Amino acid sequence: MSDTFRFTIDGVEVTGTPGQTILQAAEAAGIWIPRLCYLEGLVPGGACRVCTVKVQGRFQAACAFPAGPGLVVENDTEEIRELRKQVVEMLFVEGNHFCMFCEKSGNCELQALAYRLGIASPRYPYLFPVRQVDASHPDVFIDGNRCIQCGRCIRASRDVDGKGVFGFVERSRDTRVGVDARTGLGGTSLTLDDRAVTVCPVGAILKKRVGFAVPIGERLYDHRPIGTDLERRGA
Ligand code: SF4
Ligand code: FES
Repeated sequence: MSDTFRFTIDGVEVTGTPGQTILQAAEAAGIWIPRLCYLEGLVPGGACRVCTVKVQGRFQAACAFPAGPGLVVENDTEEIRELRKQVVEMLFVEGNHFCMFCEKSGNCELQALAYRLGIASPRYPYLFPVRQVDASHPDVFIDGNRCIQCGRCIRASRDVDGKGVFGFVERSRDTRVGVDARTGLGGTSLTLDDRAVTVCPVGAILKKRVGFAVPIGERLYDHRPIGTDLERRGA
């Protein structure tokens, strides 16, 4: 195609097309860039910074930065791997993530990313914030302890479901995901077939009555590290 262009990621020439982000072009070329708030089919949020790369020597979010001709992108360098580890470690200490008791364990993108990045335990002190569980909905619950504020549920509900059930409330370290009903999740229009119910990368939004249907040890990331399904070249 005449409107395609070439640029490099870690010295490897890849092809981009107009409208693609760096993350999308990398993925099309079989190069995995770690991500948490990005999900195919949703508008990029640029919230988590796990996808940070260097473009022409400057840090950028690969999920939001447009690919372009001649760009020089660094992805899998020691400096960037270290930065991503720090981001993921901060996410762990900012919430209450007890993987051994969590229904999402083995399917959790945060947990899988920590394994893939070689994180044994966070270097920062745990904050143990006080967070709420909202189980007022008959079919779905939201556990604020596990929320990493990626915003996927907000974008899915707003842009895919056309409802706007979820939204950020409060500020700074008190920021949390709220719902559009004073009575909690049970008072919203959320239904089980909403896209927002299935986009959470961690165990913060889960369906009721299906917990542990797939045993620990037989889950997605129990079989293969996160990202390996997207890799055809080393990342
Ligand atoms: S509830 Fe899940 S999808 Fe929503 S912001 Fe928190 S971690 Fe992201
Ligand atoms: S995946 Fe790009 S900022 Fe979160």
